[in-house]
Amino acid sequence: MSSITIPVKTKDHPHLRPLNVLRDLSAVADLIELCFSPTMDNDGQRYLSDMRRASRDDSFLRWASRVSETASMPLMGYVWEQDGRIVGNASLIPFRDRGKRVYLIANVATHPDYRRRGIGRALTERVMKQAHDKRASAIWLHVRDDNPGAIELYRQLGFKEMARRTTWQGSPDARLIHPRTDIRIVPRHPRFWPLQQDWLQRLYPKNLSWYQSWNLNALRPGLWNWLYLLFIDFNIKQWAAVRDDELLAALAWMPHGGRSESLYAATGPAQASGEALTSLLIHARRTITYSSNLMLDYPGGQMTDAIRAAGFQPRRTLLWMRA
Ligand SMILES: CC(C)(COP(=O)(O)OP(=O)(O)OC[C@H]1O[C@@H](n2cnc3c(N)ncnc32)[C@H](O)[C@@H]1OP(=O)(O)O)[C@@H](O)C(=O)NCCC(=O)NCCS
Repeated sequence: MSSITIPVKTKDHPHLRPLNVLRDLSAVADLIELCFSPTMDNDGQRYLSDMRRASRDDSFLRWASRVSETASMPLMGYVWEQDGRIVGNASLIPFRDRGKRVYLIANVATHPDYRRRGIGRALTERVMKQAHDKRASAIWLHVRDDNPGAIELYRQLGFKEMARRTTWQGSPDARLIHPRTDIRIVPRHPRFWPLQQDWLQRLYPKNLSWYQSWNLNALRPGLWNWLYLLFIDFNIKQWAAVRDDELLAALAWMPHGGRSESLYAATGPAQASGEALTSLLIHARRTITYSSNLMLDYPGGQMTDAIRAAGFQPRRTLLWMRA
């Protein structure tokens, strides 16, 4: 991986100090709620209440202060304290990507009364330096595509867009009309796997999977995988869209412990693959009993008409940026 360039302007500031997880968690949760509430979804709400619960739990806080280097939680980072309160925050979350240490910058937030004074920039620069000092092989962050101010801030600090992903949500009330087509939906057959795997690897790239919960190996056919999934009580369903026995697209459904249910779509280069995807999504929605959180993660800007035609709405598009 390439080395990380830290902007020369990095310098400490009297208001800038490291996050003290034993003391600051509750104030940081308040700040995050204030700054992100307009775009906060159920996962965000859950994350906040976890943070608040953790801030009241002494034994958790003592444990957290010791494991901040290994836990995938925002236990590291910097805050901006001014006028006796925390008005800025940037967190650093460690991950492992194929054995290498990666840091994710998260929760960059400045209180609305203190914006455009350089606080967001100073905090981001400082956590970049912190990651650099910890020998990060890469620094990542993600930001919504409708947040041009933050995107500009990150661009100025040397972050480059690596991927754009849209999360689509199945709307339970959508009227579904199956397209008239000669495409057939059949259970996924093992002979389709090499092609399906190829397409999945392109659409769900490995360099993002260290953070997301994608485990595409779970979709592999074969007795051992089947037994393993049975053993861990993991119920996956898969379908293929075919015409004249040619695979046009495939779809997998994976539940995530009652919280949400994910769909993974694999589409090929054939012209009919959009139509095939629509048919598959409609078929999945008719076949499975799902909660209101039926999600499809897909590269941003691709297959949008086909996905909408199956009654899905874009919930958000995230830019993945890397320093
Ligand atoms: C994004 C955010 C953290 C920026 O904080 P800030 O302290 O105001 O940022 P800074 O003053 O350091 O701005 C640095 C640069 O970023 C860009 N920028 C920041 N906010 C901007 C805005 N609203 N519009 C356009 N550019 C903006 C500018 O280039 C700015 O430099 P300039 O003021 O010299 O023009 C703040 O607006 C915020 O908390 N927003 C809500 C939460 C959020 O969206 N966080 C980012 C999640 S990824």
